[in-house]
Amino acid sequence: MSQQLARESIAKGAEERAAGEHAARRSFDPEDGEVQGPPISMDCERRLAQLAAWCRELEASPRSALPPSPEDSARLGEMLRGIWEASDALGPSGLLRNSQAQRRFQEVLGTYFWQSPIIHRCFAKPRGYAGDFLMMDDVYKNAPKGETALGRWMDRWVLEQPGFVAVRNRREKLKSLLSDEWNRGARYVMNVASGAASELSEVVHAMPFDGVTLLDQDQGALYAAVTALGKRMNPAHVRTWSGSVFTLIRGKTTLVPGDQDFIYSIGLYDYLSPRFATALTARLWLNLAPGGLLALGNFNGHDPMRRFIEAAMDWYLIYRDVPDMLALASGLPNVEDAEVWTDATGCLHLLLVRKRGDRPSMESPP
Ligand SMILES: C[S@@+](CC[C@H](N)C(=O)[O-])C[C@H]1O[C@@H](n2cnc3c(N)ncnc32)[C@H](O)[C@@H]1O
Repeated sequence: MSQQLARESIAKGAEERAAGEHAARRSFDPEDGEVQGPPISMDCERRLAQLAAWCRELEASPRSALPPSPEDSARLGEMLRGIWEASDALGPSGLLRNSQAQRRFQEVLGTYFWQSPIIHRCFAKPRGYAGDFLMMDDVYKNAPKGETALGRWMDRWVLEQPGFVAVRNRREKLKSLLSDEWNRGARYVMNVASGAASELSEVVHAMPFDGVTLLDQDQGALYAAVTALGKRMNPAHVRTWSGSVFTLIRGKTTLVPGDQDFIYSIGLYDYLSPRFATALTARLWLNLAPGGLLALGNFNGHDPMRRFIEAAMDWYLIYRDVPDMLALASGLPNVEDAEVWTDATGCLHLLLVRKRGDRPSMESPP
């Protein structure tokens, strides 16, 4: 890590502490943006009040000190589904930001759900966006935290929701893809929107890649990634590219075309419009060597957690189904094969596109 990068990370750390303190104080603010859409129905208000009463009962009960029972989880899921139905959130556009339903959800129920550190962090966004590398680390570790019994109960409950289980499944899939590509002869790997790249740091001891390129807009995430990787592989083989993928799309990059054997991006395409997703895919494809693999992740619209993350975490994603994923590969030249892997929960897709040809340094596939 260069001194320049280290200095910037320290400065970023101070910035983040200040932002974190601000975020910790953040709660529902009625002045925060204009309320959109029609007033919510009496039925929805009634269901919100019912769930608040249920949360209060749970908070006062010894059950809150235990892991969520199947009965309590099922009851909570059922009450939430009732709220989505009564608030029209099941429509194609989901639960709109600043809608009456979202506002009332946060006013009535925020005090219970936000006791979970993960739910609160996603809502408060201390690094300016949801899904930062520290929150992802908590999802991967799957070790509930919280200052109150109810907070730990909610943390444990949310960590077992299908969307977060899918995130853990995706990381396991990435680890097995890294191993498969290594065995095919891949020696240069690039991770776009890497976060802390924990899937890489868990495998590089057994697969000492000649080059690992990490790209992320968040210097703190890159610092965490480089620190972890540097303990397990030659740090001289790790290269960071700090900035937005939008710069990459505009072609402002020193990355060499055809230089990478395996390029992947998980947790980024969910924020990219079709136009930017297509442009970025074309750009990454240019960087991929013949015979190389491109893997791109995206949540699909069937994620049952969608309404909850919109309502409680103010977290909005762009969802893609199998045809949308395949469409990203449709205009690419020299595609040998394109397929979509879906995780066991059905919430997450990975588009896997193989480039035709053989790189001289890569063995032929068995
Ligand atoms: C949900 S995290 C995923 C991190 C990691 N890939 C993982 O799956 O654990 C999203 C990451 O994308 C990065 N990111 C978001 N928008 C970006 C952009 N426009 N350019 C570069 N990185 C971006 C964030 O900084 C964050 O580290």
